[in-house]
Amino acid sequence: MALLDRIFAGADAVYGLTVGAIDDAIAKYGEEKAIAFPDTAYSLPIYYGVTGTKVKTLGELKKATETLKALNTREPQLHDGLMSGVATALGAEFLEVLKYIDNPTPYEEPCSGHLPDAIIRDMGVPLVTGDIPGVAVVVGTAPTADEAAALIKSYQEQGLLVTLVGGCIDQAIEKGVKLGYGLKVVPLGKDITAVAHVVSVAVRAALIFGNIEPGNANGLMEYTKERVPAFVNAFGPVDDVTLTAGAGAIALGFPVITNDSNNIDAIPQTLIVQPEVDKFNATSLEARDIKIKITKIDIPVSYASAFEGEIIRKADMQIEADGSRVDCFEFVQMKDLNEVEDHKITVVGKDFDEFEVGEKISMGIIAHVAGKAMQSDFESVFERKFHSFLNCIEGLMHTGQRDLIRVRVSKDTFNQGFRAKHIGEVIYAKLKSEYDTVIDKCEVFVYTDADQVNDLRHNLVIPTFNARDARIGNMTDESVDEFYTCILCQAFSPSHVCIVTPERLGLCGAVSWLDAKATHELQPNGPSQIVRKDHCIDEVVGRYEEVDEAVKKYSQGALEHVTLYSIMEDPMTSCGCFECICGIEPMSNGVVIVNREHVGMTPIGMTFSELASMTGGGVQTPGFMGHGKHFIASKKFMKAEGGLERLVWLPKKLKDEVADAINKTAKELYNIDNFADMIADETIAEDGETLFNFLTEKGHPALNMEPMM
Ligand code: SF4
Ligand code: NI
Ligand code: NI
Repeated sequence: MALLDRIFAGADAVYGLTVGAIDDAIAKYGEEKAIAFPDTAYSLPIYYGVTGTKVKTLGELKKATETLKALNTREPQLHDGLMSGVATALGAEFLEVLKYIDNPTPYEEPCSGHLPDAIIRDMGVPLVTGDIPGVAVVVGTAPTADEAAALIKSYQEQGLLVTLVGGCIDQAIEKGVKLGYGLKVVPLGKDITAVAHVVSVAVRAALIFGNIEPGNANGLMEYTKERVPAFVNAFGPVDDVTLTAGAGAIALGFPVITNDSNNIDAIPQTLIVQPEVDKFNATSLEARDIKIKITKIDIPVSYASAFEGEIIRKADMQIEADGSRVDCFEFVQMKDLNEVEDHKITVVGKDFDEFEVGEKISMGIIAHVAGKAMQSDFESVFERKFHSFLNCIEGLMHTGQRDLIRVRVSKDTFNQGFRAKHIGEVIYAKLKSEYDTVIDKCEVFVYTDADQVNDLRHNLVIPTFNARDARIGNMTDESVDEFYTCILCQAFSPSHVCIVTPERLGLCGAVSWLDAKATHELQPNGPSQIVRKDHCIDEVVGRYEEVDEAVKKYSQGALEHVTLYSIMEDPMTSCGCFECICGIEPMSNGVVIVNREHVGMTPIGMTFSELASMTGGGVQTPGFMGHGKHFIASKKFMKAEGGLERLVWLPKKLKDEVADAINKTAKELYNIDNFADMIADETIAEDGETLFNFLTEKGHPALNMEPMM
């Protein structure tokens, strides 16, 4: 079979290149020279995933090429061709890591090269919710730049994450396609070996979320095939090396679609020839079975999750509503069915074209919703979604929430006809489509009249917020009869179950008890199920018969016992997408917490990535626990081990964010004033001894507590 011969030829070529480049590097730096990709705990990720061995020096890398050789069997069967493809992915990874010797940033904007673990964790929730329905890997140079740009934009508008390798990067730049992770279009690099960086993401997803044992190559390939919705678009003419890389993709379960009709023998469902580039999108989605959530919204610009991370600079803005300077708010209010006229959008005040360019305006958005199953508790759940609803509009930036929002509309978007009523259209369409089982009718008001916004803000909106806060602030785990499960992340972590309580939100930080309750109402058979709490076994560690039953049932027996308030005794599992990780710091009897955004070292001697790799995939790891930011100041945080008093270190930014809440809790629980000042951060200590000295000087309470281990 000619196809196999070409694959083997490509694999041989890559093998030769890899060995040559490693020999050159050894001649220059010596065998002991350290090699690694930055910001990952799995270096080198593909090799580690496939073989279970970590490679740390050039000498070890040289030795690892024996694996490549062994995989290149040249037996004339498809399986052997695919394994040669895996060898090529490994070779590409080896060639790429050489670029990082003595240079943490070998890639220049806009190319990313290696992607950090944090991005993979960040993608966890949007991938399971379908907000990122898939990952497109676009390789090579399209027949024309217009076709490249059109293809990339088509995926972007559907919300897919698009990674680019090779000539299509320059074509995208030429056509002004906006690039960057925030816009879901990530140019990896211009050499074909840069595909290693997306393969690396897929492999780490299996290790992080899937609890796949490193070295279990079959388990790994099964995981990526079943759970990583990726595919490849390779522009012809496809050379032997690219073809072999494609075989590697196929081995991972990712179909390859190419327009190279002269040179390629197709394999049904996996290696597909589609001569017309403008049909790549449809062919690819069908081959990978990716379904796109479509909401038809009547606005003059594009609407897609790809625009969520878009930033609009001052010079580019037509109008701005800034809640920190003028009255602004967004607000959802439950009404009776007969009080709401469905799909009515009312603008009160001047429209965008009646303001000066760049003018700062007041803006209030009110949605009236009604439905038989609606509850007032859902108002805040829906309201919080405005942020992502509005951010997905091309050329509109939204930050903040409640009466501290900021909205910018770009000149481009304004010039395409975007006006105040379109904000109402988006809110209407999204609320109705996402919450159709609860919202029967929805009516939206957009206020731009400063006096009316001021009046509504002070007389309706703020008093309502205060009442809601009082209700939720008083809500404790004891004050409710039910907790909820969340198993959304099982799409990636098949045995992970979050138990969500009023005082312990989901570890991703995105699912509060109210969210889980609303989810249950909306999808009675969905990811959030009621967990009664009638039979408490141990109040201190938070052990309930019903919680154990629920985790056993929903983890398909993988878990038997989970406590809600202990990090040592049957702690809750993690999937991988946690906002923070908490781990024991033995010298102080305390714990450190580090959030995903923090890239520096912690006093435990591990970074976020390294700590995070200690737990995940739905397994219990006493001493380590993933959790949401809001859990830190909860009175239930590690209550079994003494609680918040154990906290000795936080990254500075996170500490500033949660300081008020921490101080309040510590005052109530332990009568300590300004507890946040006793907690170290990276500006104070990045090692255990400096930390210990600081804590001693401050008289930190953890020092006198029982050892945790
Ligand atoms: Fe995943 Fe837990 Fe968040 Fe649900 S609450 S989305 S299972 S992390
Ligand atoms: Ni129910
Ligand atoms: Ni998750």
